[in-house]
Amino acid sequence: MIFPSMLQNKRVVLGVTGGIAAYKAAYLVRLFKQAGADVRVVMTRAAERFVCPLTFEALSENPVYNDMWQDNSQGKIAHIALAKEADVLVVAPATANSIAKFANGMADDPLSTLMLAVTAPKLVAPSMNINMYENPATQANLQILAKRGFCVLAPGIGFLACGDEGKGRMPDPEIILDRTAALITEKDLGGKRVLVTAGPTREYMDPVRFISNPSSGKMGFALARACEHRGACVTLVTGPVEMDDPINMRVIRVTTALEMAAAVNEYAANQDMVFKAAAVSDYRPAAATDQKIKDSRQIETLELAANPDILFELGRKKGNTVLVGFAAETQKLEEHSAQKMQKKNLDMIVGNIVGVSDSGFGADFNTVTCFYPDTPPDRLASQSKDSVAHAVIDRALTIYRKKGYE
Ligand SMILES: Cc1cc2nc3c(=O)[nH]c(=O)nc-3n(C[C@H](O)[C@H](O)[C@H](O)COP(=O)(O)O)c2cc1C
Repeated sequence: MIFPSMLQNKRVVLGVTGGIAAYKAAYLVRLFKQAGADVRVVMTRAAERFVCPLTFEALSENPVYNDMWQDNSQGKIAHIALAKEADVLVVAPATANSIAKFANGMADDPLSTLMLAVTAPKLVAPSMNINMYENPATQANLQILAKRGFCVLAPGIGFLACGDEGKGRMPDPEIILDRTAALITEKDLGGKRVLVTAGPTREYMDPVRFISNPSSGKMGFALARACEHRGACVTLVTGPVEMDDPINMRVIRVTTALEMAAAVNEYAANQDMVFKAAAVSDYRPAAATDQKIKDSRQIETLELAANPDILFELGRKKGNTVLVGFAAETQKLEEHSAQKMQKKNLDMIVGNIVGVSDSGFGADFNTVTCFYPDTPPDRLASQSKDSVAHAVIDRALTIYRKKGYE
């Protein structure tokens, strides 16, 4: 999965220290680059024993800063210049040694010196043997960093390179990317509660056959992630999708429309915003069998029963919630979206045409138009679903403030 705009126009300085997980930092550089960041890598001497600076130079498309005495920054003092330009400083993997240096304010190599000069947000991803991690010295040092406002990630649990098993693995690069974006995103949804639905539903006729649609859940997940990055307390209700749970939110996995309706009913009260991006089946087979129907060609008609209209119910009792729906249409986008918005009492509907390449179901990009009950629609340029998510949230927040819900 790629997040093409999560760090657009941001400068990420990545410190790589001498742990066995240093090779994973190469992939992290790629993720940062794919997310739109300008990446500068700083390496310790020990890190160079594990991965050659050329790897990071090639992947970041920038020189690696690894020598305070021989840098080529044209008359500038490299660590001060880098510190001033950083939007965030990430150290991954962070060794016990470097963590101890940061906690004690030492400045005897390029990375620790830079650390003292950086005023931007800082994140460390510890990676070491379990006993080194649990050692009171390391724990005390990590607590000092957390108290000073560093984002200190919990290490992953699993097999460690030393043969031991337990806490100590470098967190997955995808998690580091996500937490980096969260760290530098303005918290304009701080204290707000947001409910997001995502993905398709499955309506079974027997244990192996169901009615569904190609929704991948990417738009809903992008919305949930973006809301969490902006400080909201997020509940995500999702149908069956091939994605891991986003970090730091309540995730409820459901299968059918009836289950989705029940989950939404349970959590919809007192939400500041609801984004209903799930593609819910309008109908389900009237009767589902417990056993597989043998030779289904004998069935000539399939009787259907209507599913509850979740969005309509939300619109009926929405109170002080900004309610945003989604419409996927194959034609007459404006007309169909407007009808749906009115019928379901929405504050905004995000419409997109499906069936075109690189937009809609399954794609990483989307071309959408936002419709409102009382103002003209605005069409957004084609962009990544992450960036559509932020644009949609911006608009929902404007509505929220206009309505005086703040
Ligand atoms: C094979 C090998 C693997 C190591 N892996 C780790 C590790 O995963 N985490 C860690 O904190 N130290 C690890 N060390 C120890 C560090 O390399 C050592 O403490 C070094 O001084 C760290 O320097 P730095 O923090 O300046 O990069 C390892 C050492 C060796 C020889």
